Order: sequence, then C-alpha cells, then structure tokens
Amino acid sequence: MAGIMKYGIIGVGMMGREHLINLYHLRSEGVVVVCIADPHLPSQQLAQSYNWPIQVFSEHKQLLDSGICDVVVVSTPNMTHYEILMDIINHPKPHHVLVEKPLCTTIADCKKVIDAAKRRPDILVHVGLEYRYMPPVAKLIDIVKGGTLGHIKMVAIREHRFPFLVKVNNWNRFNCNSGGTLVEKCCHFFDLMRLFVGANPVRIMASGAIDVNHKDEVYDGKVPDIIDNAYVIVEFDNGARGMLDLCMFAEGSKNEQEISIVGDMGKGEAFVPESIVRWGLRVDGRDGVKSLKAEDDRIKYDGLHHGSSYLEHLNFLSAIRERGEKAPAVDLHDGLISVAIGVAAQHSIEKGRFVTIEEVMQA
Ligand SMILES: NC(=O)c1ccc[n+]([C@@H]2O[C@H](COP(=O)([O-])OP(=O)(O)OC[C@H]3O[C@@H](n4cnc5c(N)ncnc54)[C@H](O)[C@@H]3O)[C@@H](O)[C@H]2O)c1
Repeated sequence: MAGIMKYGIIGVGMMGREHLINLYHLRSEGVVVVCIADPHLPSQQLAQSYNWPIQVFSEHKQLLDSGICDVVVVSTPNMTHYEILMDIINHPKPHHVLVEKPLCTTIADCKKVIDAAKRRPDILVHVGLEYRYMPPVAKLIDIVKGGTLGHIKMVAIREHRFPFLVKVNNWNRFNCNSGGTLVEKCCHFFDLMRLFVGANPVRIMASGAIDVNHKDEVYDGKVPDIIDNAYVIVEFDNGARGMLDLCMFAEGSKNEQEISIVGDMGKGEAFVPESIVRWGLRVDGRDGVKSLKAEDDRIKYDGLHHGSSYLEHLNFLSAIRERGEKAPAVDLHDGLISVAIGVAAQHSIEKGRFVTIEEVMQA
C-alpha cells in the first residue's frame, strides 16, 4: 500500500456524510479523513457523531489554510461550487479535488474553473458523475464499448423516482441555487448518454414543468420553481439520439433508473436498483436475450448509490497515486458538457424550441 492519503470534506450535509462513510471504508487503502468544513452546526455534529477523529472548521478557507489534507471533497450546495473550487485551485498548497456534480450551475463558471485548473497541472480534479460506476450501468458500458450492439443509435434513460429531498436551508428548491432540475440531477444522465454514444451533443429539445411537487411550499415568500417532470431529446454529432424521461412523483416504481441502448446490431438494458442487465442481438431475437445480475465485489460499502460512491473514490485514489499516468475518469470537460446539455434543456423549455449547444456555450 502507498502512503497515507489525507482527505478533507467541504460541506457535510447528506452527500458529504456519504463521502465521509465511504472514505472510512477505504481506510485499508491508506485513506483517512482528517477534517471537515461546514458552517451549519447540525451538519458538523452529525459528521462528528461517528466518533472518528476529525478537525472541524466552519469555513473552507480555514480548512485549506490549515494545510492538513492532500485531497478535498466538495459536497456543498451547487451554487457554492464555483467560489470554493476557485479558492482551492488558487491556493498555494496543492489539493486534489473531487467536486460533486454539477461542476457549477452555469457554463460560464464551469469555463472559468477549467481555465484556472489549466494553470495548476499539479492538481487533479474529478467531477462526481458517479452513475458511471453503478455496477449495472458499468456492465452496460462494457457491453456497448465491446461493440456487441454495433453502432449505437438510440439511448433512452428513464428516471422515475421520489421528489427532491429537503436540504439544509432548502437550497435545492430554486433554479438559481441548483442550476435547475435538468442541470442539478440530470447532468448524470446526459453524461451517460455521451458516454454510451461516444459523441458530442449538438442540439436539445425539451418539454417540462412543475406539475405536482413543492407547489404548497413557500420559502421567504417564494414558491419553488424547480421542474418535477420533463422529456428531453438530445441529438449527437454522429447521428445518435438520446431521450430522457424524468418524473419526480413516481414513487410507485420498481426501478429508479431504466436505461435502454439500441445499436444497429442489438439492444442492451440496465435496471437500477434491481441491478439487472439484459442484452440481445437482432439475429437471435427474443429467445436470445441474455440477462445477469450486476455485482462488483470490490464494493465494501453500498451506501445511498449502490456502491458507486465507493468505486468513484477507489478510482480517484488510484488516479492520484498514479499521477501523470492516469487522468481522473470523469474530468472537467465531462463536467462542463453534462452541465451544458442541462442548461440547453432548461432553455429549450423556456423558449419552446430546439436549443443548440453552440448557442449556450457562446452565451
Ligand atoms: N452524486 C449524487 O448522486 C449526489 C446526490 C446528492 C447530492 N449531490 C450533490 O452534493 C452536493 C451537496 O448536496 P447535499 O444533498 O449534501 O445537500 P445538503 O443541503 O444536505 O448539504 C449541504 C451542506 O453544505 C453546507 N454548506 C453550505 N455552504 C457551505 C460552504 N460555503 N462551505 C462549506 N459548507 C457549506 C451546508 O451547511 C450543508 O451542511 C450538491 O452539489 C448536490 O448536487 C450529489
């Protein structure tokens, strides 16, 4: 085992504590969480309730100035990612960073972070698009990349789930804080689409609204403006098409995510949390469809996301340790494009027309 890797976590709400527990399960890999930073006392107390010795700061700059960690995880509300990332990147002491998705809430901020990071080749930045690591999704990616299904033409992703959870100070109730539903949570799915088709997005058409959830909630006199359902079509530069079907009042579903990939030779599907993967070739018909239960025995902690946070950390840790030879699996460019598709989809709903990626990237 290589030397000890010291981690700090900025923002220890729901996801920050999830990182804390995942990193605890990586202690045999030489990982130790030495500090956290969060201004919210209840979050600090919950993070300390595991009785693992950690130094507590109320502010991210104090954590950085302390110089006691090598890697920082940024798991604060979306609208704070930009400022915190810039402070990390511009800090004299190099800290590698795992930043939660979305990279930032706007394309302009993502671009400024990318420019700043170019001046710090000593820092690795990984964006937390962790759905890539969920065992059934990873297995489907393997099948697609192995060429079994031929050239991928269509990617349909259905997320049918429960409404947005309550967050500290209700930051996720407003587009100005989260970037909007299609940026905040759907960046995961746009990232997967790009990965499955191996191409870049060109234009986006979306229809969506806030129809059921949060309508009776009021915060400082304002009613939430985040949409709770949408259809989004994404066209790629190799002719492939993606389709997202999002519904956030669909608790009565067996699966939360259902992914269907069709190539010119065959079709593959993945189901989460059932963890089932199915695939078949056109020549073999229905009787030839294969099925397996996807598992990954490297996972020591399933957590809230079916082991993907654990595998994400394992992956980032090896990228840090093999620096110069191995780049982060999900880099800043992936983070930017996943946000750009979400921004274009939000614009498409507002404008009622196709929106090109070029249009939003230049705005
Ligand atoms: N990968 C995933 O699937 C996934 C799932 C949930 C959340 N997330 C992401 O994780 C991030 C946090 O979400 P959450 O659900 O934990 O929210 P949360 O509200 O539960 O926690 C956010 C925490 O950050 C703290 N905070 C706010 N401003 C801060 C600052 N400037 N410095 C330090 N701490 C600060 C808050 O006090 C709170 O404790 C978001 O970016 C969200 O999109 C990702």
